[in-house]
Amino acid sequence: MSDPTGPVLPAEAVVDLGAVRSNVAALREHAASAEVMAVVKADAYGHGLVPSARAARAGGATWLGVAQLAEGLALRRAGDTGRLLSWLHVPGDDFGGALTADIDLSASAPWALDEIAAAARATGGTARVHLKIDTGLSRGGATADQWTDLVEHALRLQAEGCLEAVGVWSHLAWADAPQHPTVARQREAFDAALEIAGRRGLTPQVRHLANSAATLTSPALHYDLVRPGLAVYGLSPVPDLGSPADFGLRPAMTLQGRLALVKAVPAGSGVSYGHAYTTPADTTLALVPLGYGDGLPRAASNVGPLQVAGRRHTIAGRVCMDQVVVDLGDRPDVAQVRAGDPVVVFGDAGRGEPTAQDWAEAVDTISYEIVTRIGSRVPRRYVEEES
Ligand SMILES: Cc1ncc(COP(=O)(O)O)c(C=O)c1O
Repeated sequence: MSDPTGPVLPAEAVVDLGAVRSNVAALREHAASAEVMAVVKADAYGHGLVPSARAARAGGATWLGVAQLAEGLALRRAGDTGRLLSWLHVPGDDFGGALTADIDLSASAPWALDEIAAAARATGGTARVHLKIDTGLSRGGATADQWTDLVEHALRLQAEGCLEAVGVWSHLAWADAPQHPTVARQREAFDAALEIAGRRGLTPQVRHLANSAATLTSPALHYDLVRPGLAVYGLSPVPDLGSPADFGLRPAMTLQGRLALVKAVPAGSGVSYGHAYTTPADTTLALVPLGYGDGLPRAASNVGPLQVAGRRHTIAGRVCMDQVVVDLGDRPDVAQVRAGDPVVVFGDAGRGEPTAQDWAEAVDTISYEIVTRIGSRVPRRYVEEES
């Protein structure tokens, strides 16, 4: 591991805040006509909420986006004062706390507007609300049938002075396939919703639709504000269309550790639970102290890539809760590999390391899940690398 003066840890996630900062700066260039909202929900996709949010602000994110109010309140407690939107609420959420903390709130339904307005009356302030239209994802947002009512409801509360409808927004279903016909259809539905709102007198300060993929590939979808998440952390949302480097991004997280044990075993040794791997020859096994308790997918058994003492290997046998085994096979320097030698689970392809995308492909998921699932047992260490 790169810091010889630090404590000896079995494993750690090194998060390069310089990468977060420069990724946001790159996203600003991709969407030069819009502002950038860095999406920092889910502990900033596993990278650490507060440090990542600060780095994103330093890179030029004028907005932060979170799913849950608790995430926004944590940012405020940590001293963040910029524009901040929270979007996934349930009845009874702490809207009063959100307003006191100056957090913008999304509303998809009349109940949300009513609860936000009640909180504003109680606190004596004016809530800033972003009305969400479902343009085809069929997840959050008012349907096209409900949209006019939602707009009129918001305008009545706005006239009363308890809220201001500052935003209209939506989310894409197929942004990672920019030519997919739903992308154009969602854009048309979004424009139609804006027109309906405009005809009733609602002209939002910010219209926003684009996630990372649309920010990087579809300028027509940028509107006033883009909402990238994955790209902030230096991963490509469209790996078939471009690598992080192709988009000017650098992966921020490196998951690394040290070998706990190296030992010789004979041919025919069954390895790890259920003996899902058997050594084909006399060989050397190495033990890596990371497992599904740390967030490695158990589905990576026999397929997860690792870099052990500078060379690429694949996990041998099942992923256990705390550890995985690697068969060092016939690598020429096998006699030099020792307990304590470095292991990189994923990091930056530019350094020859396996990537979160490699892991995603190995276990049939997306890189989002690979980084976000890294658990709380893995300490995060923050560094500032030069680009
Ligand atoms: C509503 C919303 N906007 C933006 C994002 C950011 O998406 P991405 O990480 O693909 O950029 C997300 C994340 O899933 C989201 O839920």
